Amino acid sequence: MNTDTAVVRVVPTTPFNDQRPGTSGLRKAVSRFQQKNYLENFIQSIFDSQSSRLPHTLVLGGDGRYYNREAIQIILRMAAANGFRHVKVGRGGILSTPATSCVIRKYKADCGIILSASHNPGGPQGDFGVKFNIDNGGPAPEKVTEAIFERSCTIESYKIVEAAPIDLDCLGQSQLGNMVVEIIDSVADHASLLESLFDFDQINTLLSSGGFRICFDALAAVTGPYAHAILEKRLGAPAGSVRQGTPLEDFGGGHPDPNLVYAHELVKIMYGDNGPDFGAASDGDGDRNMILGHGFFVTPSDSLAVMTANHRLIPAYRQGIAGVARSMPTSLAADMVARKLGLDCYETPTGWKFFGNLMDAGMATLCGEESFGTGANHIREKDGLWSVLFWLNILAARKQPVEKIVREHWHSYGRNYYSRHDYEDVEAERAHAVIASVKSRLPDLPGMKFGKNEVASADDFSYTDPVDGSTAGNQGIRICFTDAARIVLRLSGTGTHGATIRIYLEHFEQDSSKQDRDTQDALAHLIDIAHNLTNIVPLTGRTKPTVIT
Ligand code: G1P
Ligand code: ZN
Repeated sequence: MNTDTAVVRVVPTTPFNDQRPGTSGLRKAVSRFQQKNYLENFIQSIFDSQSSRLPHTLVLGGDGRYYNREAIQIILRMAAANGFRHVKVGRGGILSTPATSCVIRKYKADCGIILSASHNPGGPQGDFGVKFNIDNGGPAPEKVTEAIFERSCTIESYKIVEAAPIDLDCLGQSQLGNMVVEIIDSVADHASLLESLFDFDQINTLLSSGGFRICFDALAAVTGPYAHAILEKRLGAPAGSVRQGTPLEDFGGGHPDPNLVYAHELVKIMYGDNGPDFGAASDGDGDRNMILGHGFFVTPSDSLAVMTANHRLIPAYRQGIAGVARSMPTSLAADMVARKLGLDCYETPTGWKFFGNLMDAGMATLCGEESFGTGANHIREKDGLWSVLFWLNILAARKQPVEKIVREHWHSYGRNYYSRHDYEDVEAERAHAVIASVKSRLPDLPGMKFGKNEVASADDFSYTDPVDGSTAGNQGIRICFTDAARIVLRLSGTGTHGATIRIYLEHFEQDSSKQDRDTQDALAHLIDIAHNLTNIVPLTGRTKPTVIT
């Protein structure tokens, strides 16, 4: 198609009232996105919110879930109509979230669109999502997502060109009106960035020795091609080390969330007799990770702490790191390390977008969330494969099993027993009643005793960004005890059915002789206190959580 034949159509439309992006983009059921003009309205709202600057280059891709390819064709035709000059698209429409961030930064693109509902199930009955990233490669900050939402409330038309579908499977450039569409290798840029950070030779020696076995479960989602290329082809892990490595539109019917519940096949392999030495999984769009040793699970909060404590083993961080940041509900394990090593440590609201300014300003190098997310300043998204390579590099350097490394860590820094209890699909009114009831008690809690536990402080977390002074209120309730235990309570911002209440529980144990307990047992007294404080059972009618991680 050449310039002269691209006819721009201006299509009248009316607003939808539910296009406010949540913790991580706009997520809805596929059927909602397939409604006439639904996707188009949201994409036009994104483009309109950027109109003060002339758009030039866009990076576009997704996790390969159902509706990915159709959405890409629509967005390409809309980008051409809205004046973009160049769009880089991952081959087959595939680009993981971290790879998109990498490509935006490497080629100095203006922005990116990632089509993913992350760890939510896919397929015609599943979810779809749209995430918008800015020129630093990170998720759009709240002021941008609010502008998109406001635009979506008043939108009257969108622009699109008439054109035949682009072949997404063939590398190279083609023309769509005035715009160049470039199909790029989905893996190459991200793989070479990762290679520049870690000691690939050392990891290769470990993985090709035959004495050390790994199992990486891509959960039939986007990381398959990345893991095959990096772990098997480049780093010498035997073929078959990557399982479920082909992205499927419905993730094989599974729930592409790397935790002990949804990655149960991997868990079975890792806890089996003669199981591999190292196991990992990633989520739908490749930004989350779960780390396992043989018969041993590393909590994401501990993973961040172990990375921070061992950063000098990694070539990219050998000269030192600027600081570490964690989301508020993430355990204080990283803080313990930062304190000992004299590193700055930041506490931000839930959601990766809050780390962006700290990394841009050179204040934080390593960042993490309890929700299976860790990453660093090489990009502006959390990065599943980066986390796997970080661990493999530690293992290659220390030549010790995962479990030994973590136990020694607890011995040095103390153990933060940690668990999250999710109550999913609760009626919204009931969920809000739970939060409201705790909020009303906050002023009376400090000094109050629950058995042996005394409340030191209780508040509704609000954050002032130290870089640009922007504020975010209502970010979750924190109840801190005098013995460094914590209970945190917040509502999810990513669900698509009803409301999800998350209760985060944390108990600190310095005494090495008490660091070997079952997590739920060690937290039992805090679980009781949380029930007592929240009245969650009578207010929701739920007697137990839907998912415990
Ligand atoms: C969840 C996690 C949060 C993460 C987000 C996107 O958000 O809790 O840490 O950044 O998914 O992966 P929530 O549903 O709690 O709002
Ligand atoms: Zn994700």
